[in-house]
Amino acid sequence: MTSKPSATPSNTNNTGTPSVPPKEDYKYHDFLKLLNPSEPNKQVTVALFGVGRAGTIHLGNLLGNTRIILKYVVEERAERRKEIENIIGGSSSPIKVVGIDQTNAVLGDKSLQAVVITTPTFTHKDIVLKALDYGKAVFCEKPIADNNEDIKKCYQKAQDAGLPLLCAFNRRFDPSFSTLAKRVHAGELGKVHMVKTCARDSPLPSLEYLKISNGIFHDCAVHDIDLVCWTLGQFPTRVFSTAIAHRKEIADIDDFDTVAIQMTFPGGTMALIDLSRLAVYGYDQRIEVFGPGGMLQCNNQSSVTLQSFKSEGVQDQPILYSFASRYDDAYKRQLNHFIDVVQGKEELIITAKQTLACCRIASAAEKSARTGLPVDIKYDD
Ligand SMILES: NC(=O)c1ccc[n+]([C@@H]2O[C@H](COP(=O)([O-])OP(=O)(O)OC[C@H]3O[C@@H](n4cnc5c(N)ncnc54)[C@H](O)[C@@H]3O)[C@@H](O)[C@H]2O)c1
Repeated sequence: MTSKPSATPSNTNNTGTPSVPPKEDYKYHDFLKLLNPSEPNKQVTVALFGVGRAGTIHLGNLLGNTRIILKYVVEERAERRKEIENIIGGSSSPIKVVGIDQTNAVLGDKSLQAVVITTPTFTHKDIVLKALDYGKAVFCEKPIADNNEDIKKCYQKAQDAGLPLLCAFNRRFDPSFSTLAKRVHAGELGKVHMVKTCARDSPLPSLEYLKISNGIFHDCAVHDIDLVCWTLGQFPTRVFSTAIAHRKEIADIDDFDTVAIQMTFPGGTMALIDLSRLAVYGYDQRIEVFGPGGMLQCNNQSSVTLQSFKSEGVQDQPILYSFASRYDDAYKRQLNHFIDVVQGKEELIITAKQTLACCRIASAAEKSARTGLPVDIKYDD
């Protein structure tokens, strides 16, 4: 027997307006938390290391988060330190902006609880290990280190010290991607047949960055690999990929700008990853999951939703241009997750096992592209 629909849905009042804001409007829920605080705000004291592209995003978020006291910024380049001093309000600011010769002094400050590391990848391992030695919780931009052995060392040290080490796979905190993953985890699609992701960068990173990026597989593909594996709750057992450098300057540094990765999972689920170092129409970030129960898809976003309708056709606004704007919310939510972990309110949602698997899969995918052969993967970490 089908029940008769009630005149007023359960989350609406008798005027027909929703009495409970939908959970999808997470920004409204954040507003409600500020409107009706349930407990006093305990702040975490933090130092930021490295203020280039990624570090500038985190600097803005650290300054704008009422749960954080930013005490130090450690930056190698003197001219950048000057610019940061201008951003934070000059010499009257309580935030100390220092060079890397001050690293030990900063980490030795007993009031410092955590560090955010956004220096180039090749420097991560040493700063992570040192920060853990000094008893600080660590938020580190992806990847945690250049290779599996060093990533293992970092997690081992974090485990021995009983301190959190967060690998900042920001896409996990994107509201659209995380809603999609939750619904896949809940079984809405049944056994997934196929996942497709597309990640095309914008703008093209500088050649100086590309030279020290550790290559497109470890610099870019790791994001998609993590997103796919997390969404499926599995790691692939076979990887096959092809890659090419259409740009001479990228071929000259023995890297690639265009990559296709196919992953096969236990049970037969397949995934396809489509990567490019440059899309001229903006930062192209999409995911699609397909199964017997249907398809879930997240598409590109624009900051302005205006559409124009003319005799020559319908036109949308440009999609978000780069990671700073596309993942603005994700970076903020990721930082709040880290603070929750430091304060013992949440467990890390990105584990050592997952981070190590991503590095292993990225290496296998690179090996496949360079040899032209599929690569089988065993997980013994
Ligand atoms: N999650 C993301 O969306 C995302 C986006 C971009 C970069 N990243 C990651 O962030 C890291 C940094 O990348 P980027 O593009 O910001 O690089 P970048 O070159 O723009 O910035 C790095 C900054 O660190 C400074 N620096 C170098 N060594 C230092 C040290 N020992 N101590 C303090 N400062 C130091 C440099 O002077 C520079 O200002 C990389 O690991 C990269 O993979 C992540």
